[in-house]
Amino acid sequence: MTTAPDLSFETLRDAVVKHYRQRTPKSAAAHQAAAAVMPGGDTRSTTYFDPYPLSIVHGFGCRMTDIDGWSYLDFLGNYTSLIHGHAHPDIVRVVTEQLARGTAFGSPIDAQMQLAAALCGRVPSLETVRFCNSGTEATLNALRLAKAYTGRAKVLKMEGGYHGSHDAAEISVSPPAHLMGPAHAPCAVAGSPGLFTGITDDVIVAPFNDLEATAALIDIHGSAIAAVIIEPVMGSAGVIPAAPAFLAFLREATARCGALLIFDEVVTLRLAYGGAQSIYGISPDLTAMGKIIGGGFPIGAFGGRRDVMALLNPSAQVLRQSGTYNGNAVSMVAGLQALQLLTAREIERINQLGDRFRSQLTTVLAESGVDGYAGGIGSLVQLHLHAPATVRNYRDTLNAPKALQEVLHLALLNEGFFGAVRGEYAISTPMTAVDIDEAVTRFRRALPQIGAQLQWR
Ligand SMILES: Cc1ncc(COP(=O)(O)O)c(C=O)c1O
Repeated sequence: MTTAPDLSFETLRDAVVKHYRQRTPKSAAAHQAAAAVMPGGDTRSTTYFDPYPLSIVHGFGCRMTDIDGWSYLDFLGNYTSLIHGHAHPDIVRVVTEQLARGTAFGSPIDAQMQLAAALCGRVPSLETVRFCNSGTEATLNALRLAKAYTGRAKVLKMEGGYHGSHDAAEISVSPPAHLMGPAHAPCAVAGSPGLFTGITDDVIVAPFNDLEATAALIDIHGSAIAAVIIEPVMGSAGVIPAAPAFLAFLREATARCGALLIFDEVVTLRLAYGGAQSIYGISPDLTAMGKIIGGGFPIGAFGGRRDVMALLNPSAQVLRQSGTYNGNAVSMVAGLQALQLLTAREIERINQLGDRFRSQLTTVLAESGVDGYAGGIGSLVQLHLHAPATVRNYRDTLNAPKALQEVLHLALLNEGFFGAVRGEYAISTPMTAVDIDEAVTRFRRALPQIGAQLQWR
């Protein structure tokens, strides 16, 4: 809190929106045309923002261009999935070659084995894996498998944890404050209408990074819990790393109560050659994956303990997991190429670029007098505004000035920087220090007016 801003929030917002509209008339027209045939003109709730999203026509490396011809530094990479940016020549080559040979065959193909072997080779806890088409399917199947294996009905997830859009995953992702319940025993809050009514009974919600409270919940419900599912670094809640002791406790507590521990590494696999689990030195029973392992094409995968995964063996006739495009040839070859390009050295390099971005961004915020800093881990960067010095869980993020974040996002687009509205950014391998510095310059240009508002709030 310092001085009052020299322009009201509404004046600032109107000016930024006006500039956005002036720059992007073709995106506005595209949105209008799309709205005639798709509700809200979009086919993915996350990608929509007011007054309308950009219509992107092409991308290369870490840059993409909208229909009005404006170029953007892409610091989102399709929500962290494009770790090699757009149209990486090696991925384009293997996909093009595969297209000419066919895309899906209703039969196993060698490329599935190769990608499965590549994943098992990187992540020691993966003894066998199965493919599906999204991270949502990966966590859905992992949870179903855990329930089948243990014969138990309930799962425990973290408040603020995001695991996709199936019913159990929609519980307590971003619950409103008045429904959250007590911090030590959060309520299971349905994130949308239309979920199966019993779902909130079967999902127990625990406070991330609160060992004592989670231990108490496991003491009460342990014998009914099939699985604990957790992102080692909670992503959409604000790129919040789990405390090592918290994950170590979950490993021990699940083993003790006979539940499986599932790591959702759909996003965090990018953080180390063996995924976040290798950073923490913890071996979960099952791991869900997606995003980067498809090289830019639809994919999901889950895997882990051989004895648990064996329930999926078709000859055992216990658990079915089907999907017309599971293991399709295009996702397989693209994913394999993407993993081959993602060496330990490249991961280290982009993690360091993440550090560079975090530190420079924090400096820019301080220069603008803004109460905020850039957090996150490795190649995942998160802007924290009006947050505690260490963000430990979902509730720590509730003071974020959402309306101002939206205006900042639009102002950044006006400066040619593309990130998530919620202030999440991802580094990709086409980037160098020059791109990071350019991004920081764009922040520096976008921030001054908004900075005044952020100081004042
Ligand atoms: C941690 C996590 N799990 C699961 C998912 C769902 O993946 P998908 O969007 O491919 O269904 C996401 C998507 O953002 C995610 O971040």
